[in-house]
Amino acid sequence: MRVLFVCLGNICRSPSAEAVLRKMVSARGLTGEIEIDSAGTGGWHAGNAPDRRAVAEAERRGIMMSGRARQVTANDLRDFDLIIAMDEANRRDLIALATDDEVRAKIQLLREWDPEAMGHDRAVPDPYYGGDREFAEMFEIIDRSAEALVDDLAKRVADD
Ligand code: 4NP
Repeated sequence: MRVLFVCLGNICRSPSAEAVLRKMVSARGLTGEIEIDSAGTGGWHAGNAPDRRAVAEAERRGIMMSGRARQVTANDLRDFDLIIAMDEANRRDLIALATDDEVRAKIQLLREWDPEAMGHDRAVPDPYYGGDREFAEMFEIIDRSAEALVDDLAKRVADD
């Protein structure tokens, strides 16, 4: 099972989601079953480390962030089983990159797993132009969503 998180720059939201899910997957002993990666729809930050504000908030939560930013490719959409966008713009950009319906069916929004998501508000807000509070809020949303996501993944892996 291969899961790819996608945001705009691949330095704030998607590497944070990747790190949070990786920790939860490890806690369940599923590291060998579930591969996790992240990418950005844009390439401006390709090769860069995650945003230092995200790394600092992750550290406060006992989570290690690693990896370098990269831009998502059409091959990613084929190779990953589940492609999880952080907001509607990311989702739209991924749909535009998709080559067929089978690929399109793999694209979802992270907050579809958030039990506290209200109505149509399914975005993980972009914290890039915010401050510490926005980064902490981002982790709260990711944490809640990833808890439900890892339950879902554990079931899928068990059913395979
Ligand atoms: P991310 O945040 O998509 O969560 O990584 C952003 C990072 C960089 C920019 C925008 C959002 N930027 O405009 O450079």
